[in-house]
Amino acid sequence: MPLTLSERALSISPSVTLAVDTQAKKLRAEGLDVIPFAAGEPDFCTPEYINDAGKFAIDAGITRYTPAVGTLDLRTKICEKFHRDNGLEYNPSDIIVSNGAKQVLFTALSCLVNPGDEVLIPSPCWVSYPEMVRMAGGTPVLVHGCEENNFVVTADMLAPHVTEHTKALILNSPNNPNGCIWTRADLQAIADLAVEKGFYVISDEVYEKLIYDNEEHVCIASLGDAIKEQTVVVNGVSKSYAMTGWRIGYAGGPRKVIKAMASFQSHASSNANSIAQYAAATALSCGDVYIKSMIQEYDVRRKLMHRMLNEIDGLSAQLPKGAFYMMMNLTKVIGRSYKGTVIDGSTKFAELLLNEKRVAVVPGLGFGDDNFARLSYATSRSNIVEGCKRIGCFVNSLD
Ligand SMILES: Cc1ncc(COP(=O)(O)O)c(C=O)c1O
Repeated sequence: MPLTLSERALSISPSVTLAVDTQAKKLRAEGLDVIPFAAGEPDFCTPEYINDAGKFAIDAGITRYTPAVGTLDLRTKICEKFHRDNGLEYNPSDIIVSNGAKQVLFTALSCLVNPGDEVLIPSPCWVSYPEMVRMAGGTPVLVHGCEENNFVVTADMLAPHVTEHTKALILNSPNNPNGCIWTRADLQAIADLAVEKGFYVISDEVYEKLIYDNEEHVCIASLGDAIKEQTVVVNGVSKSYAMTGWRIGYAGGPRKVIKAMASFQSHASSNANSIAQYAAATALSCGDVYIKSMIQEYDVRRKLMHRMLNEIDGLSAQLPKGAFYMMMNLTKVIGRSYKGTVIDGSTKFAELLLNEKRVAVVPGLGFGDDNFARLSYATSRSNIVEGCKRIGCFVNSLD
């Protein structure tokens, strides 16, 4: 037998976000001051009371295996959260806790998708969705949104892509990479389509708490019993509570789906970290005061970055409604050149910007749109000012 890798492994593209991050870290290790606009995580520290809960868990010996689906205490707190924030009624048996929302998503897709099944994904989209669908043996079907409509992909846009093979739709509101939010009306139309045509919705709501200007976050599963019965609602503590390293994500969904996910996870990884589960239960049950202060700061940064980018001749960006990312429109700089090198797309733009001006951004190609780059404003105001100045300087020097 030849010592080959599996076809599945060979079909997976490495994450572009991680590639930029690796190069940025390399430059930083060489002592260069790289502006980190590529990061996908809060720059805030985990709140102290949550850290204290983690320390308590260690000292109290909460360091053993837990049920594979998560502790009853955490799943009860998650049910309370779904009730409080989303108007959803779940029982702890309808809940699964995993190593981050990422594992929840992968497990859900692995339990729902058969080879040949299609999964609809509004795009631009988070880099991992198409790869996860492929890893589960399915076919990602990207449905493109456009900047003029704030990137929101509506039911009317999805409908022509629904076939007899459509098994699921992955929704992500508020959205990474563009910060758009689906309205209640948008979601109602999508729910009606999903119920009529019979496909699952995997609703990734990890940025739920990070919304601005009194926008409303609506969970599609709250729009009726029928859609709730075919929706897996995915969330986590990484983004809301600045707990990316703790690796706690969770889902609520139809019992038969959660049960299948529990069996899958019991063989793949067992339970998420017991200490982190204890800390996450504290995070979910101690109010959102900390989150509010984070949002206020993100809001200032969002407006600052938006203003500075739009002041650069040749670039533009829309004001995002949620999350902490902004899509920078590169249409007018693609085709121009830097010291003889033609910028033929977002990858070359990001590469030159990083190597020449030490600003790390993620090429839009990885998210499904080569005319954009994604910038994260989960970084200090001074970094935003300096980074935007460097971007302006770079663009002004193009031929
Ligand atoms: C849209 C989206 N979903 C899920 C995740 C994963 O979150 P977690 O840290 O809970 O695995 C991310 C992280 O970047 C994300 O952007």
